[in-house]
Amino acid sequence: MARFHTLTVKEITRETADCVSIVFDIPEASKQEFSYIQGQYLTLKLHVGGEELRRSYSLCSSPVADSEVRIAVKKVDGGRASTWLNNELHTGNKLEVMTPMGNFWSAMDAANEKHYVLFAGGSGITPMLSILKTVLHSEPKSRISLFYGNRDEQAVIFKAQIDALAAQHGNRLSVFHILENPAPGTAALYTGILTAEKVAALIENHIGLNGNNEYFICGPGPMMENVKQVLTQLRIDSKLIHIEYFQAVAEAVKAAETASTQTAGTSKVTVILDGEEKVFDIPQNGSSILDVAYDAGMDVPFACKGGVCCTCRAKVTEGQVRMDHNFALTDDEVSRGYILTCQSHPVSENVVVNFDEF
Ligand SMILES: Cc1cc2nc3c(=O)[nH]c(=O)nc-3n(C[C@H](O)[C@H](O)[C@H](O)COP(=O)(O)OP(=O)(O)OC[C@H]3O[C@@H](n4cnc5c(N)ncnc54)[C@H](O)[C@@H]3O)c2cc1C
Ligand code: FES
Repeated sequence: MARFHTLTVKEITRETADCVSIVFDIPEASKQEFSYIQGQYLTLKLHVGGEELRRSYSLCSSPVADSEVRIAVKKVDGGRASTWLNNELHTGNKLEVMTPMGNFWSAMDAANEKHYVLFAGGSGITPMLSILKTVLHSEPKSRISLFYGNRDEQAVIFKAQIDALAAQHGNRLSVFHILENPAPGTAALYTGILTAEKVAALIENHIGLNGNNEYFICGPGPMMENVKQVLTQLRIDSKLIHIEYFQAVAEAVKAAETASTQTAGTSKVTVILDGEEKVFDIPQNGSSILDVAYDAGMDVPFACKGGVCCTCRAKVTEGQVRMDHNFALTDDEVSRGYILTCQSHPVSENVVVNFDEF
């Protein structure tokens, strides 16, 4: 199970006016636990203004192409954790960091001849950089197209690094910057925001549609919905589309709230964590299973509490639950019984939830 370690900040690099990347020093004894897959994230437990904040940040380093463990944090307006990390964090500070998690990846194989099509917006580049460096290193016959949307050139995180990789791997990595305020003379196709029409035009111009394509999407909510809509219209198999949400999608949250069930009984829920079992009577329409277990003193893992990361993942081994929202688990995980405990309420009379069956 994922757990927090205290790590020292080894290096902080200012990437843009509102984004820093942070390298952690991983002690030899923790190296195994901090081994990760491209596209995964770390969760930080911060104490800001007397408040405990848990926030997830994707790794931008590659597990095979880099020896460091690096995340990048873009400041959001009024954002408590991201502002603190951008303005107050110093090299040598110690932070509580959870071991890596996340599903935003596909297995690497040197024999693959895939075309990875990456759609990123703003800080959504972070897991993409990890993915693209890993593919370049691990799959010599695969290629990558990156469509990267930003406000203007100054806002492009990792621009120098990405452009250098494109120059080095010209035939395997194609990078298309799409800027709201580009340099004068930029073609209309690469100007503006990633609307559904723009995404469709970019795919038509640059991507041959075939079964070897695999799609990754990460960025602002509306942009992700636009890309998803176009790929669905193009009848791309959903198994080939990977999406990483940094925030809940407001429309989906509203729809789930409207559709909330009318069940009203109480269930017996057994929660298993680190080999320890606790049994709770939990109302079917009340607090989440995670909240009940946490309030009872169990050290259950969580971060966003919004159904967006998968830090609170556990397996239902008996009974049924319903989830309010799920922006993180794949259909396959759900069919195998995995749930986001922060979104889950019991439905059947008896339920067993196991955090150890990871
Ligand atoms: C799996 C995962 C991976 C992530 N990876 C990264 C990453 O690599 N780099 C990165 O910078 N962030 C990443 N995030 C987002 C990050 O976890 C925080 O949500 C973000 O830094 C904002 O936290 P905050 O405390 O600063 O803002 P809060 O104090 O929580 O929020 C303040 C305001 O900002 C808005 N807000 C919250 N989150 C976002 C957001 N992501 N974008 C825009 N507005 C927002 C809120 O609606 C609110 O109005 C990731 C999130 C998840 C779930
Ligand atoms: S804590 Fe993020 S999905 Fe539950």
